[in-house]
Amino acid sequence: MNSITLKNPFDMHLHLREGEILKAVLPFSAQSFSGGVIMPNLKTPVTTSQLAQSYREEIASLAPDFLALMTIYVTDFLDKESLQDLSEVGIKILKLYPKGATTNSDSGVSSILNPNLLEILKVAQDLGMILSIHGESDGFSMDREYEFLKVFENLAKRFPKLHIVLEHMSDHRSIKVLENFENITATLTYHHITMDLDSLLGKNLNPHYFCKPILKTPYDKEALLDLALNAHKKVSFGSDSAPHLISNKYSQNAFGGIFSAPNLLPRLVELFERHNKLENLQAFVSDNAITNYKIKVKKDKFITLKKSPSKIPDSIPVLDSKIIPLFGGSDLMWQELV
Ligand code: NCD
Ligand code: ZN
Repeated sequence: MNSITLKNPFDMHLHLREGEILKAVLPFSAQSFSGGVIMPNLKTPVTTSQLAQSYREEIASLAPDFLALMTIYVTDFLDKESLQDLSEVGIKILKLYPKGATTNSDSGVSSILNPNLLEILKVAQDLGMILSIHGESDGFSMDREYEFLKVFENLAKRFPKLHIVLEHMSDHRSIKVLENFENITATLTYHHITMDLDSLLGKNLNPHYFCKPILKTPYDKEALLDLALNAHKKVSFGSDSAPHLISNKYSQNAFGGIFSAPNLLPRLVELFERHNKLENLQAFVSDNAITNYKIKVKKDKFITLKKSPSKIPDSIPVLDSKIIPLFGGSDLMWQELV
């Protein structure tokens, strides 16, 4: 096949940041995707309807046709009365970070099963909201997601009508939770289905491959790739594209986060073609998300890709500095027609 057209691709886990970085990175997502789930871990976390609405406006002023599905950062101070207001302005995703689990998560919740949060989740369930979770314990890096599975099980049982999302699934042991609980779905990144721990540190240490959750074993990668290639009904694509200035990636305290937004669709087409699964890409990058998150698409977007060489940019200039994309400078077999 020499060309493929995708209808309404969605990126269901996306960090756009704000200000100058937002301006620099948003065009990559807005060109390729109809919309995405916008993560709330800004320097001042998006904890209220007002903050989320002004962030949504900032995004809309730069990319009016991009459907920004906003999320609210769950803190110990979120009160259940505000959930109704959020629903009324079309904000229906709550993002839960355990305190300190990842970049900008200091405001996260210290104890997930605390009575206040459980009451909030009950209201969220009644309002038909979605609970998106960065599910990692504070244990050994390679076991953090696995250790957190019991929290997913607990919440899924307590709130059987609440749609819970296991974000950026990275461990094959999580698959059984997807299968056991009707109300749990998951997102998969490009990097967790194509890379493993050796990409990060098997040769020289490469901070551009450092992210939370950490890349795992080849076995995990293959199991997750299999879910993606078969467009398992309960998984959708969420890049977790997370840009950091180069100074924060090369510092002694390198930040987790892989900036994968540039050329995501050409890479996904190449991957699915290599595995003879191109027919499932539409479901993985769009249909599953539209169904599971009940997305109302206002205006259809069609992206045609053709088999023709292109390149991932080396770097993206921003704020007298730069951000290095995943595989920056490397060749691609496909390109998007714009
Ligand atoms: C993300 C970031 O930089 O905001 N980092 C990451 O390693 N994925 C936060 C997150 O999604 O965990
Ligand atoms: Zn993320």
